[in-house]
Amino acid sequence: MKRLGVNIDHIATLRNARGEFHPDPFYAAKFAKKAGADSITIHLREDRRHIKDFDVKKICSIKKLLVNLEISTNPKIVKIALKIKPDFVCIVPENRKEITTEGGLNLKKNKFKIKSIIKRLKKNDIRTSLFINPSVDDIQISKELNTDCIEIHTGHLSNLVKSKKKYSNELKKILKCSILANQLGIEVHAGHGLDYKTTRILSKFKTIEEFNIGHYLIGESIFFGLKKVIKNFKSIINKKK
Ligand code: PXP
Repeated sequence: MKRLGVNIDHIATLRNARGEFHPDPFYAAKFAKKAGADSITIHLREDRRHIKDFDVKKICSIKKLLVNLEISTNPKIVKIALKIKPDFVCIVPENRKEITTEGGLNLKKNKFKIKSIIKRLKKNDIRTSLFINPSVDDIQISKELNTDCIEIHTGHLSNLVKSKKKYSNELKKILKCSILANQLGIEVHAGHGLDYKTTRILSKFKTIEEFNIGHYLIGESIFFGLKKVIKNFKSIINKKK
């Protein structure tokens, strides 16, 4: 069975817009698990724009919930990850001005730093993953770095599909990289910009075991939950006294 990781950063973004407590990512994590999510992904960004430190602590304390914490290579963030010990860590690049994680890690440039972080995470029994572009070189470096998994950045593929452009070359690249990674004993995940269509396309690949999906999934759930919530309010305001 392929696994679905649900990224709930956007729940925190919505909560933070009001500076209050609702909607709480802690409940979102529990709710997503109950609904069938195989794991929950949260990204503790250096600027703390969505998930906060207390969210990580609370969400990681939920029993029998597999948590995938996305972190940059910033030593302070790595220290937090090693202290809280989530089940999984995915190392991602981080750029302060970006709206979302725009591309994969620059493994060539950050080889030694990442290798040492992976070593420390693995010593603490944390499953490691590297968020990378679909590049054969990066798969080979990932093997040298001894990561358990890689997550292929599917943003480019998603943009091509959404803008109805030719995407077969990008898809071939993803397939080639995922096959090579599997041959090297690395588990392959996919994430970024995935919607129903792109997920359907990628799920045909036996080589990809896990999908991490956030923005589209949370966006869709607004539409599918809206009916019930409007009904709730209509019944409250019209309740006979
Ligand atoms: N995987 C990783 C490593 C990410 O950084 C993100 C974005 O935070 C996602 C998956 C989810 O992307 P999206 O929100 O576009 O589904």
